[in-house]
Amino acid sequence: AAQPPSPGALLAWYDRHRRRLPWRAEPGERADPYRIWLSEIMLQQTTVKAAGPYFLRFLARFPDVRALAAAPLDDVLKLWAGLGYYSRARNLHACASAVIERHAGRFPSNEAALLALPGVGPYTAAAIAAIAFDRPATVVDGNVERVVARLFAVEAPMPGAKPEIRSLAATLAPPARHGDFAQAMMDLGATICTPRKPACALCPWSESCAARRSGAPELYPRKAAK
Ligand code: ADE
Repeated sequence: AAQPPSPGALLAWYDRHRRRLPWRAEPGERADPYRIWLSEIMLQQTTVKAAGPYFLRFLARFPDVRALAAAPLDDVLKLWAGLGYYSRARNLHACASAVIERHAGRFPSNEAALLALPGVGPYTAAAIAAIAFDRPATVVDGNVERVVARLFAVEAPMPGAKPEIRSLAATLAPPARHGDFAQAMMDLGATICTPRKPACALCPWSESCAARRSGAPELYPRKAAK
């Protein structure tokens, strides 16, 4: 019989195979909410690979939220040049000021307060709550949607399947290590459960995956007929 997907199996995989990314805390290190926020804003429309050098330049020039809030907007826009979507850079600066003014320079840890900040939408609020504060938030980006759609062989086509995928994702939540779990889901989607040729033989959830049992995991998530 198929085994239910265990969060522990994914976390054990993550402990061995986690990607080392410039904004990611090392095991045992405390996550820096400023770095998590900055990286999540950059990653909204930029790949992990392209965001890396920008993230490091930003951090060198603006090491914390106070430095960013105090900087002239033009300096922020200059460092952002090349990333595109300049409204993101304007919101970044406005968000830094809001964190200083509303929250005395410390990022709030709850999703509702995060969501009220400029440039922070539901995905970003959940990602910051989970990764920076280890709160139990359901973090669903495109990678995670693919993992969940396959795990449960969701037959409804995208994008209509999003609410179903979201509630299925919530059922996977571990009792602890919420931040690691969110990042493990992203890493699994980016490195194993890839769009075209998923590496099911390396997947910690292969024995639990309904799409794999179907024989054609790459057909999930389903797309609407054109
Ligand atoms: N994509 C968006 N956020 C990410 C993160 N924290 N780690 C890896 N990929 C991501």
